[in-house]
Amino acid sequence: MTQTTTRVILSKRPEGLPSDDNFTIEKAPVPEPAEGEVVVATKYISLDPAMRGWMRDAPSYVPPVGIGEVMRAGGVGEVIASRHPKFSVGDHVNGLLGVQTVACVPGDGLHAVDPSLAPLSAYLGVLGMPGITAYFGLLEVGALAEGDTVLVSGAAGAVGSIVGQIAKIKGARAVGIAGGPDKCRHLVDELGFDAAIDYKNEDVAARIKATCPDRVNVYFDNVGGEILNAALTRLATGARVVICGAISQYNNLEEVKGPSNYMTLLVRRARMEGFIVFDYAERYGEAFRDMGGWLTTGKLRYRETVVEGIEQFTDAFAKLFSGDKLGKLVLKVSD
Ligand SMILES: NC(=O)c1ccc[n+]([C@@H]2O[C@H](COP(=O)([O-])OP(=O)(O)OC[C@H]3O[C@@H](n4cnc5c(N)ncnc54)[C@H](OP(=O)(O)O)[C@@H]3O)[C@@H](O)[C@H]2O)c1
Repeated sequence: MTQTTTRVILSKRPEGLPSDDNFTIEKAPVPEPAEGEVVVATKYISLDPAMRGWMRDAPSYVPPVGIGEVMRAGGVGEVIASRHPKFSVGDHVNGLLGVQTVACVPGDGLHAVDPSLAPLSAYLGVLGMPGITAYFGLLEVGALAEGDTVLVSGAAGAVGSIVGQIAKIKGARAVGIAGGPDKCRHLVDELGFDAAIDYKNEDVAARIKATCPDRVNVYFDNVGGEILNAALTRLATGARVVICGAISQYNNLEEVKGPSNYMTLLVRRARMEGFIVFDYAERYGEAFRDMGGWLTTGKLRYRETVVEGIEQFTDAFAKLFSGDKLGKLVLKVSD
């Protein structure tokens, strides 16, 4: 019997925050897999800020999603047909499945995951791309050392929440910046951060000064804009500024707000460096081993916000920008 997929197509490039006008939801037959391909029934779709960049018709580290194409997204699911030697029916896999309920994709781009070790959705968060981003961004790009003060923005999100916890595991101080008192309480009371700054209700520069009395050795930036600018004023000598993301700017890349306080880099002999997690692809195993161990021993915790139903894609995606979610945001597509 021919399988049917429900899929979300990029029909018009967004200006500003994407809305339902930018996507079409349609049903389509799933093709028979060719040699090397695998058909996967999607369980969870990952909603990531990077997807906003993939909707733009501009050169980046991956080509843009074309008009008329299935919206690109990571996902986890179960193999329902396979013509790839590495995968059999019933296996669980992680990869770029797209925003669709059933995906026919090259098996070479998939990784096997084990649902008996962690819930499937965790492979999109703490044990997936965001967790690995936090790990290499902090330890390699940020060159974390014991006793450092780490300041991280987007701290209650998928990447930021892991950055702060790894900092603590490695003997550093962790200060998080997040939106709203509930998220700030969560950072300190549940995740063990030393302090939290509510950028929606507090004077960020004054609070960085108060919570980082010995200045900031690593600033891990997920948001850019005014918060990056404020963080630059409190760098310690030899500080590392990790440019992981700039979500505050993603919906208006024509008028990006740059950091006017950049001269502190000179005065403090600091460096600012961007990175893409894929640069560390050959070392993902290291991150997976450490993070898996920390999860098992309870040193690492994570939260998820799960939205149900592929039809909710646009509303769910908007939560990345409104902040109406905690931890990793995923779209549940099937049981
Ligand atoms: N370099 C890489 O390879 C790589 C890989 C993965 C992710 N990233 C980047 O890492 C960052 C975090 O990604 P994530 O997946 O962990 O997302 P996330 O933090 O789980 O979700 C985004 C969060 O950003 C905050 N936010 C939204 N608009 C904001 C604004 N205008 N000002 C300040 N904060 C704002 C919201 O939290 P509040 O409620 O606190 O506002 C929201 O929950 C993104 O910039 C992403 O592009 C980079």
